[in-house]
Amino acid sequence: MRPAVTIRQLRLWSGLVLLVYLTSHFLNHALGLVSLDAMEAAREPFGWFWRGIGLPFLAGALLVHVVLAFVSIYLRRSFRLARWEWFQLVLGFSVPALLAVHLIATLWASLIFGIEPTYEFVLFATWVGGGWPTVQQTILLFVAWLHGCIGLHFWLRLKPWYAQSQPYLYAVALLLPALGFLGFASAGRAVAILAEDPAWLAAMLARVGPLSDAQIADIYALEKWVLGLYVALIAAVLAARTVRKWWHRRRSIRIDYPDGRSIEVGAGTSILEASRLAGIPHASVCGGRGRCSTCRVRVLAGAEQLPPASASERIVLSRVIAGEGVRLACQVRPTAPVTVLPLLPAGASPRDAQPRPGYLQGKEVEIAILFADLRAFTALSEHKLPYDVVFILNRYFRAMGTAVEAAGGHIDKFIGDGVMALFGIGENVGEGARCALEAARQMARNLEDVNRLLAHDLDEPLRIGIGIHAGAAIVGEMGYGRAISLTAVGDAVNTASRLEALTKEFTCQLVLSDAVARAAGLAFADAPRHELTLRGRAVPLTVIAIENAALLALSDTERSAEPGPAAEAVLADETVAAAETV
Ligand code: FES
Repeated sequence: MRPAVTIRQLRLWSGLVLLVYLTSHFLNHALGLVSLDAMEAAREPFGWFWRGIGLPFLAGALLVHVVLAFVSIYLRRSFRLARWEWFQLVLGFSVPALLAVHLIATLWASLIFGIEPTYEFVLFATWVGGGWPTVQQTILLFVAWLHGCIGLHFWLRLKPWYAQSQPYLYAVALLLPALGFLGFASAGRAVAILAEDPAWLAAMLARVGPLSDAQIADIYALEKWVLGLYVALIAAVLAARTVRKWWHRRRSIRIDYPDGRSIEVGAGTSILEASRLAGIPHASVCGGRGRCSTCRVRVLAGAEQLPPASASERIVLSRVIAGEGVRLACQVRPTAPVTVLPLLPAGASPRDAQPRPGYLQGKEVEIAILFADLRAFTALSEHKLPYDVVFILNRYFRAMGTAVEAAGGHIDKFIGDGVMALFGIGENVGEGARCALEAARQMARNLEDVNRLLAHDLDEPLRIGIGIHAGAAIVGEMGYGRAISLTAVGDAVNTASRLEALTKEFTCQLVLSDAVARAAGLAFADAPRHELTLRGRAVPLTVIAIENAALLALSDTERSAEPGPAAEAVLADETVAAAETV
């Protein structure tokens, strides 16, 4: 395992242990809303665990998390960070400074002096005393929680289920510290009232155990030492980082980008850091932690001189089915000149980090393509108010959309009053063809329902023309910004569109190519066939014209119920030939 993997995983797991501790601490605080006794009663199992078998985990997690924070700032070549990264960094480094006195006065004092840091005692020392200790504890509570929640959010947002769970997790993230603080404040007020009684105060201090003035002075002196050491460590790490940066700068390399921009950086600077230093927008959803893959680049030149990908980098790249020559910009640290092309737009979202089917990135696949268009709708809409046109079209789109989805298709787009849908992506063309025919039948039936429903609003019933073709098409996510969607391009798509136009010529509702019938395993023996050469195609195409798609018989049961000779697909009586060859 390479150091990068160890650091990333250790940081995550140590952070999770600390977050669990914080959660249990808040829950214990929240019991102060019930009573001081309830708070105190729950402290015992809490203390039993965290000062017993949980102590090595807690102390280890705290130590590891702090050390790794120092390691990460030492390794950083650039402090050009996203705003959230800065925020998390500052919060994270504030925690040990705020925590020092609390930890020394409770955990350390209980282990060294043998005192029992009861809630009464802690509340008396912090809440009742007022002033800075109260403010410090309150700030600590929110700073530590916020730091943990930011880390958790940027880890979990790469999980496919996170978007749906987010509202609930947000609610928990807000409620827990709020309840914890209210419980702490409520119990603090109770202790303030009780402390007015000298007898109660003496009994409370007796329950804590013997704590001399000298020991209290030791606690505060130790806090000062710890804080001083902490600040000195930060300064030392920053100084060491500056020296390291200067050392690496002695050998600089050049990183080129295809748009003509380039930057000279010290050898060993990651490509993502180089982009940030050069002010080149570069996607990095996980903030350079090697988790999201959104920083990936295609190495156009100099790939052979790059250090090989680590196991974790290979795992992330294989998750997104990255092609040859693709590397994670945040993980690869060139030591020789390279030319790279960032593959995702700078505004990439967590969605882009999800493992996705390979065809989304562009693949030639055999699919069935369906085009549908309303007949004479422009003329019809000229006599209608805009509101009515939108209303009618939306009814129509809903009817067509549900038909496509029910048949397992993907609605590619609505174009004017037309629909384009794809079938069989990720399956096979046979399944796609059958689904497309099922969708065509359901579209025709749904249109009949729409016509019935809008009988009073329409001068004449809506009519539709549908074309279906099957063949190889290039499928992938295409577009720009928010208009990116899964679509298909290629000759098969153009052919399907032309078949839809032929429905006017053949005065029928559906025209499908022979390729669709063959892929679906259906003969359509009774339906008229036409051999024609479409514009832009060298090879003649056999097409089948279906007058009423609503009456398509697609299964054995449906076909046996139909009159006429046994055939793989029999159209109902109403299906009329439009026997003309173009
Ligand atoms: S920024 Fe997330 S993997 Fe590189």
